[in-house]
Amino acid sequence: KHVAIFASGTGSNAQKIIDHFKYSEKIKISLIVCNKAGAGVLKIAANENMPVLLIEKQWFRLTGYVSELKKQHIDFIVLAGFLWKIPPVLTEAFENRIINIHPALLPDYGGKGMYGSAVHAAVLAAKEKQSGITIHFVDEKYDHGKIIFQSTCPVDENDTVESLSKKIHELEHRFYAKQIEKLLEAGE
Ligand code: GRF
Repeated sequence: KHVAIFASGTGSNAQKIIDHFKYSEKIKISLIVCNKAGAGVLKIAANENMPVLLIEKQWFRLTGYVSELKKQHIDFIVLAGFLWKIPPVLTEAFENRIINIHPALLPDYGGKGMYGSAVHAAVLAAKEKQSGITIHFVDEKYDHGKIIFQSTCPVDENDTVESLSKKIHELEHRFYAKQIEKLLEAGE
């Protein structure tokens, strides 16, 4: 199966996923789709000799780049810090075949504007005792599709946005690739 990773940030999750499947015969990470020139993930893609599709907002909303993805035989899409809403043309073409990772325990702390440090700041402000990660299917609403997997971590009194973000990234790196593998193997 051919997987495209949609990422527009530093790409630490993308790197973990690429590493995880490097020697897999069944699952190939074959494309990086990015919406930000200069994003760290582009360097990772270059190091890994991986094709990149750098995309533009209007055209993405209109076409979802579905024909390019089909041309490259993409079966499954993994979002890892992509941040743009996925247009209906794309969710329809890849129904139940697009997943996202969110750095909190959905359905709380999700929705528009809830990404990166804003999520952790909101969790800390609410004095939550725990936070975590959510892996979920993607539909046309932000952070809304069916939940596949969650894992939690404690939030301590002296946690900061940085320390919480570090804990969450560790969970993401530990679980995302494995969950992708599980899903793709179950769907064979
Ligand atoms: C992750 O924290 C993920 O939850 C969110 O975007 C971040 C991407 O981080 N959706 P990185 O670029 O993989 O380091």
